[in-house]
Amino acid sequence: MSIENRPRVAVRAKISSLGTYVPPRLLTNADLEKMVDTNDEWIIERTGIRTRHLVDKGVASSDLAVAAAKACLEKRGIAPTEIEVIIVATVTPDMMFPATACLVQEKLGAVGAWGFDLSAACSGFLYALQVGAKLVESGAHSKVLVIGADVMSSILDYTDRSTCILFGDGAGAVLLEPCEEGETGLADFIHEIDGSGACSLYMPGGGSLNPTSAETVAKNMHVVHQAGGAVFKVAVRKMAELSETLLRRNQLTAADVDCFIPHQANKRIILATAERLGMPEERVIINIDRYGNTTAATIPLAMETAVEEGRLKKGDTVLLASFGGGFTVGATLLRWEI
Ligand code: UT7
Repeated sequence: MSIENRPRVAVRAKISSLGTYVPPRLLTNADLEKMVDTNDEWIIERTGIRTRHLVDKGVASSDLAVAAAKACLEKRGIAPTEIEVIIVATVTPDMMFPATACLVQEKLGAVGAWGFDLSAACSGFLYALQVGAKLVESGAHSKVLVIGADVMSSILDYTDRSTCILFGDGAGAVLLEPCEEGETGLADFIHEIDGSGACSLYMPGGGSLNPTSAETVAKNMHVVHQAGGAVFKVAVRKMAELSETLLRRNQLTAADVDCFIPHQANKRIILATAERLGMPEERVIINIDRYGNTTAATIPLAMETAVEEGRLKKGDTVLLASFGGGFTVGATLLRWEI
């Protein structure tokens, strides 16, 4: 069996357009050297990151999402009013509520659309992609906008060298539409959550458990806390495990994958995962050097890099993999149809 022969659904969904956006301001390793006790060499060697893009004050996730969405719709040549559903994957919504999807709908002018936010941290884009695909496959909708957008700089402690060097801000959007005759599009996925890892990577303050108060602020509860080493090991093991299972059940091996696009959390995690899968480095997309970890935006940003570099072309078999806070794990197999 190959991915064309997955059990049929009434319609299959495909990615029909891609748009991304990062804010122009750069935060370099040299800048970080002036802020915390770190150095360029350590950051590059331990993470692969050289620069990240950060928003200016007053710019929120919805702004990045709208810029990415506009680029996506422009490439496809359709108006915002044609969008039926907007799903925004984010852990840095503009506000606790309303959903960032509502703010995006208004700013974009997507009159008549419905939508919602999806919280799955670094796996948010893959989970949203799957939910969006199901809305197309069911026949309920034919134009679903899936966006991964995060302003991680809004929840970082820039005195904590173990977290502040890792993340950047950005957004990516894809349009999901029904496949044409002969197209394969989104073929298969395996996702998994494991709440036993909840406190290994989280922001404890600001929710219903620890509502914002002078005490939660004093205790530094409104920033990312991470047990980096523990997360690292599970990330490699789980991304490789789910990817292998997904390939195996489609009777594929790493050799059949033209382009492997993993979540960009750490270059060492990416390379270790690729090695476990037996995936040659030339098929692995890495752009963490430029953007850092942009959480829900890493995979669409890496898709854009792959296209720009001529490493992702129409007809390619693509494997996506993610790991993030929750824990959340995802693996997705698709054919690139643009
Ligand atoms: O995207 C969601 C999932 N998140 C991830 O996948 C992230 C997973 N974790 C990681 O990427 C890595 O664990 C980190 C990059 C966060 C840390 O790298 P590491 O190789 O695991 O370093 P470590 O935490 O074991 O720290 C090694 C040393 C420590 O010093 P001692 O205790 O050995 O003296 C740290 O204090 O490096 C020190 N260190 C730093 N040194 C310079 C930690 N951060 C820094 C820093 N600059 N920025």
